[in-house]
Amino acid sequence: MRTRLAILLFAAVVALPSAAPVVAQTRTLNLYNGRHYDVDQVLYDEFTRHTGVRVNLIQGDADQLIERIRAEGPNSPADVLITVDAGRLYRAQQLGLCQPVSSEVLNRRIPAHLRDPQGHWFGFTKRLRVIAYSRARVSRAALSTYEDLANPKWRGKVLVRSSSHVYNQSLVGAMIAWHGENFVQRWARGVVANFARPPQGGDIDQLRAIAVGEGDVAIVNHYYYLRLLNSANPADRAVAEQVGLFFPNQGVEDRGVHVNLSGACVVAASRNRDAAVAFLEFLASDRAQEVFAKGNFEFPAVRGITNPMAAVAPATLKEDTLNARVYAANGARALQLMVAAGWR
Ligand SMILES: [Fe+2]
Repeated sequence: MRTRLAILLFAAVVALPSAAPVVAQTRTLNLYNGRHYDVDQVLYDEFTRHTGVRVNLIQGDADQLIERIRAEGPNSPADVLITVDAGRLYRAQQLGLCQPVSSEVLNRRIPAHLRDPQGHWFGFTKRLRVIAYSRARVSRAALSTYEDLANPKWRGKVLVRSSSHVYNQSLVGAMIAWHGENFVQRWARGVVANFARPPQGGDIDQLRAIAVGEGDVAIVNHYYYLRLLNSANPADRAVAEQVGLFFPNQGVEDRGVHVNLSGACVVAASRNRDAAVAFLEFLASDRAQEVFAKGNFEFPAVRGITNPMAAVAPATLKEDTLNARVYAANGARALQLMVAAGWR
């Protein structure tokens, strides 16, 4: 497989017709990278070995990278933007920073709901927004859905980060798509009424708050729990031991757990389009999928790849297949509804 991939990439990147010599001349891909996991570098080195195209990493906070590409305009040296959360990729797309890509490989490998229908961006890993709970104080049988977190039975027990964060905007954007704005407005008021404390910190802080008894249930991305569980620090592992993970909305008639993604787009200003597309196709390869997902305990986007998460997720896990573009586009409205409900 690796040999075949190498040949394909070689053919795609090196054996270009004379009409498009740009890649062969520059042989450097400028990757604006909002993901910060050590193993990613292993992959980028592999891409270079296979193709001869050097990957020049420009690291930064995702929102700052998007702003930088915007400010650089048509002269931006950026070829590929990698970031987490479809909401951010959608924002980059709305700003005109991503160019549409039509790739048979990407369309075949990446499930339709994990990419922009017009090819402006593609998801390469899945991240689930789940419910974490106190193993001491909450029975799993009491948990069911995101919707149920507005139930008065959770009064004073719900932990979640600020509405200003894109993870919450994407989740609530999906709820708008499924239930409409009136329902979501009522739901957000119910959740706010159940808050254990005003929103503060990131997802990992909600897990720590469960461990010290500040609240009983938290909305978090699944990999934060796994980071604590696999931490070299015994204090982190002690937090994880207090916490259980629950995958909501699994009922027979229900839509499944909310799925977000890490993804990438080819930057509109890129002068290395062919190498950039080859890089995205490389990220969709079997080998890259395993490594890319494992780096942050995420799920491979491509079906049939060994799932490093298999031990913690039920084999029959039902995932919401709402297109990421739909909930991402609802993000701004979701923020308004959360703020109106008093969700800071
Ligand atoms: Fe995160």
